[in-house]
Amino acid sequence: MTDSRPDPLRIPGGLVLDSGRTLTIRPITPASKPLIAAAMARLSPESIRRRFHAPRRELSELELHRLTALDGWNQYALGACAPDAAGTLEGVAVARFARTAPDGDTAEIAITVVDALQRHGIGTALLLQIVEAAVARGIRRLHAGVLPDNAPVIALLRGLAPWARWRRDGYGLMAEIPLLEPVATSAVR
Ligand SMILES: CC(C)(COP(=O)(O)OP(=O)(O)OC[C@H]1O[C@@H](n2cnc3c(N)ncnc32)[C@H](O)[C@@H]1OP(=O)(O)O)[C@@H](O)C(=O)NCCC(=O)NCCS
Repeated sequence: MTDSRPDPLRIPGGLVLDSGRTLTIRPITPASKPLIAAAMARLSPESIRRRFHAPRRELSELELHRLTALDGWNQYALGACAPDAAGTLEGVAVARFARTAPDGDTAEIAITVVDALQRHGIGTALLLQIVEAAVARGIRRLHAGVLPDNAPVIALLRGLAPWARWRRDGYGLMAEIPLLEPVATSAVR
């Protein structure tokens, strides 16, 4: 991590980017629907394909409901947002986990950063925060399903969790990440 990157261990409430723009990080709720829908419209087709493993244009109302009506225990998500140049709040990133079985100790994670702000350390910071939230809720193992050609997220996960096990999963890859090791500490590069 370079000096100009946000230090994910020192961002209890927000993230200050190189540009000075401050992102607020807060849990996703049903009130987040408009921000998520608008952020989806700003994602490139390639980022959408990488996130949803298929081409998409927009999220349906049902999908928006599923992505925002979270119980805070089995499913939880954090969003990063900030006012745009015109002062309108915009969503720029989301990280989430969902238990693979209710009350189980395994959860699937997913993360998205809008294209314009990728490669500024936001993915790393948000992932660490969602991992912390997952651990606090009793999660001991994370699964991440990724497309084999998604080099950015593979590099991100390999950097944060070098002990992850990777296996083929249909047409994709699945990273299995036991959380017995100190993710946050080893993530400081
Ligand atoms: C994957 C994703 C979340 C990364 O977010 P990000 O904010 O750009 O990531 P960071 O800036 O924290 O980068 C952390 C590390 O990831 C790797 N990485 C990120 N983007 C990369 C890229 N385009 N190429 C290669 N490595 C990349 C690097 O190792 C990077 O560390 P470095 O910048 O010190 O070299 C973002 O690219 C994204 O939203 N992609 C589209 C959706 C998606 O693929 N989601 C994952 C599937 S669920």
